[in-house]
Amino acid sequence: MTALTITAGRPLAGTTTVPGDKSVTHRAIMLTALAEGTSVISRYCRGEDCLNTMRALQSLGVPIDETPEQLTVHGKGFWGLTEPQGPIDCGNSGTGIRLLAGLLAGQDFFTVLTGDESIRRRPMGRVVKPLRQMGAVIAGRKGGELAPLAITGTRLCGIDYRSPVASAQVKSSLLLAGLFAEGATRFSEPRLSRDHTERMFRFFGVPLTREGDTLVLQGRPAVGWTGRDLVIPGDFSAAAFFVVGATIVPGSDITIRNVGINPTRTGLLDVMRSMGADIQVLNTREEAGEPVADLRVRSAPLKGVTIGEDLIPQTIDEFPVLCVAAAVAEGDTVITGAEELRVKESDRIATMSAELRAMGARITERSDGMVIQGLGKAAENGRLQPARQAQSHGDHRVAMSLAIGALTAASPMTIGDTACVETSFPDFESTLTALLTEPARGL
Ligand code: S3P
Repeated sequence: MTALTITAGRPLAGTTTVPGDKSVTHRAIMLTALAEGTSVISRYCRGEDCLNTMRALQSLGVPIDETPEQLTVHGKGFWGLTEPQGPIDCGNSGTGIRLLAGLLAGQDFFTVLTGDESIRRRPMGRVVKPLRQMGAVIAGRKGGELAPLAITGTRLCGIDYRSPVASAQVKSSLLLAGLFAEGATRFSEPRLSRDHTERMFRFFGVPLTREGDTLVLQGRPAVGWTGRDLVIPGDFSAAAFFVVGATIVPGSDITIRNVGINPTRTGLLDVMRSMGADIQVLNTREEAGEPVADLRVRSAPLKGVTIGEDLIPQTIDEFPVLCVAAAVAEGDTVITGAEELRVKESDRIATMSAELRAMGARITERSDGMVIQGLGKAAENGRLQPARQAQSHGDHRVAMSLAIGALTAASPMTIGDTACVETSFPDFESTLTALLTEPARGL
């Protein structure tokens, strides 16, 4: 259990980059593992979540050479995975365990998927139930609601599934299972969740089509796909911490290069702009079927906003840091329709409310969101106070969000239990420190 101490007092300045996108890295590892031949994945996310997915595929018989810069995946072809010797540990990763459950349900061997304490508390029924409708044989604690999951690979059949929840993990799990199923898998969801799987399928030439709001995938393609090199865009969700940090610390001016700006991910940009943030999206281009750009962010005063269910899927991972922005803004921010936050790495409505209140923020919890009365001018340009016992609750995004909040405090703050930052952004502290020590433009 490590700790992170933030000493504020300087603006954020200079140019930086962030780790490769975590969601895209998981998918890249899985699809290159199923390809014929070799693929090189560059600028991948070296967080523990993705390393666990890499190790999972290695244990499924796929040779992967790892350096800090690149993964070289020697794909085994469509039916090339083999039975692992022991249980697969997905660590803290909901994406890892749910996508692997789909991928493994239609193989001809047995696997057990498990993870850390947080993963073993999170709902798995959302993938287990539809996978069972496809014919999957999956056992787990509480009737398959909780991991560990024991999967006896079997013949699957495509289904027509209308997901009750907008979840890219559910969608991707079913599409990966659908690849190995007989017939067509049809999938729709109440709102579009992140579409990295759809884009990655197209990048590798997997025939996936869309009919209105329904995705249609023909299972067991007659020809598989060949390996391709790909460069992973920087993770928008990692950049989000600095977008908010540079906005709320007066005098800041930063540029973050090579950030993925897939519109199913960038709700924070829209929300922050409607709060008054000064964010420019520059040099838009494409990498691995994903839009990428540089972001320039300068500090600006913020005002509260109302965020309803329409904006939830594309902002889902950014709520912890958005709460920080709202806490120092002028006026109220009201978040509704965000009950999914309760089943993330921690219950983010509860953990962020408790932690930010300890820093002087004014927050009321609701079952599906929260009301945040911004400190604004009430507290010396919206400053938070250092909490005496700030805690991550084992949630990487809570840890990093509290660090960003602490940038506005008048004295240093220490956040406990920050080893979890390793799951997505191992260099968070050094990246933030570099931005804080760069001479500010015009100083
Ligand atoms: C992810 C999807 C999101 C997100 C998670 C990563 C993915 O979850 O919260 O961090 O890579 O598919 P849901 O779409 O299931 O809500």
